[in-house]
Amino acid sequence: MLARSRPGSPEHPPAPAVPAATAAPHEQPRCAEWLRPRTRSLLRQMVDRVSQPGILSLAGGLPAPELFPAREYGAALAQVLAGDPRALQYGAPFAPLKGHVVGLLAERGIACAPDDVVLTSGAQQALSVAAGLLLEPGSTLALERLVYTGVQEAVARFQPRVLALDSDLETGLDVDELERLLERGERPAFVYVIPEGHNPLGVSLDERKRRRLAELACRHGVPLVEDDPYGMLVYEGAAAPTLKSMAPDWVLYVSTFSKVIAPALRLGYMAVPASLRQAAVLVKEAGDLESSALTQRAVAAYLEAGHLPSHLERLRSTYRTRRDAMLEAIAAHFPAGTRWTRPRAGMFVWVELPGDVDTVALLDTALRDEKLAFVPGRAFSVGGQGARASLRLSFANQPPEVIRDGVRRLARLIG
Ligand SMILES: Cc1ncc(COP(=O)(O)O)c(C=O)c1O
Repeated sequence: MLARSRPGSPEHPPAPAVPAATAAPHEQPRCAEWLRPRTRSLLRQMVDRVSQPGILSLAGGLPAPELFPAREYGAALAQVLAGDPRALQYGAPFAPLKGHVVGLLAERGIACAPDDVVLTSGAQQALSVAAGLLLEPGSTLALERLVYTGVQEAVARFQPRVLALDSDLETGLDVDELERLLERGERPAFVYVIPEGHNPLGVSLDERKRRRLAELACRHGVPLVEDDPYGMLVYEGAAAPTLKSMAPDWVLYVSTFSKVIAPALRLGYMAVPASLRQAAVLVKEAGDLESSALTQRAVAAYLEAGHLPSHLERLRSTYRTRRDAMLEAIAAHFPAGTRWTRPRAGMFVWVELPGDVDTVALLDTALRDEKLAFVPGRAFSVGGQGARASLRLSFANQPPEVIRDGVRRLARLIG
């Protein structure tokens, strides 16, 4: 038997390192094929740029930080840490929180059992779970041409074929177009819908459109993913009924505590049809095992203490005032021919400028000359083109006087 000598011993000097020049580039780790053409979304890159101090930002979908219920949530957290040793342990989804979620869903007209609820790490993870549940590589899915970028990211790994639907600035998603596609035989793996306070368009679907969508889903056997982070932030009248309440077996309902308590909780939830329950849990657990046991318990304690209704009232009244300030300022200062949405819910106003303005270039000027930020419409465009002269403004994160000042300065740049 050959005696083994240690590498680097006198008989066996260490093998010379492979010279760098002979190492072929593909011998370095490479990311998976679907990732190679992708870059971080324009929106995410922008959020980094505009989060610098001194920038007046009407860009991000950030809730108002001064309204975070830090004191009440802090008390709930302290209570949980002091009294529940399982708060820092691995554990099953926290049943009392599921119970509260069932109650919140009931307020949105959704009747479901705790087993239909999957707790997630934000709505973003819920979208990722929905994608994992419903998509095969190369599946078809339907979503709006202008849509929340996070859903585009959640489905990207499946490299889906996208049926891009138009949206109307007053009434939202073009249901006629969807109906024509379905009648022509298209069978998307799902249709993604933001019925209330659309991000980025700021429109809400009226009840008639919702009924038609629910009816189409049932008739053609096509699931809807209903993304509803703004369903509790409605500023005029009552919220319209959810799609889930109209077609419980065909809708995967998604919502979150991000916009109504705080995004840093990273806690959301979905209500799935019974046929998808088990698989949904598998996909969620494959992602991160479980959402933070501590946060689940603290949020349950916060809800148990009854803080949410008055907190929501405060959010609605503050955001309503900010929305009105923004709409008035746009009407007063933006050039003739500008079109914009009048959101009854959510955080965003969508603006289409007249003429040949490129809002990506306008953002550079706004940042440089005015230290002012918004999101160019192109950031939301499926395929990254289109919406050249459009922009999204958020009214949630700044007080009315700052919103007025920001809109006035932006209008001056547009000329
Ligand atoms: C339409 C929509 N869906 C999902 C999300 C993600 O929410 P979360 O912070 O709960 O992951 C957002 C956040 O802005 C959103 O606007």
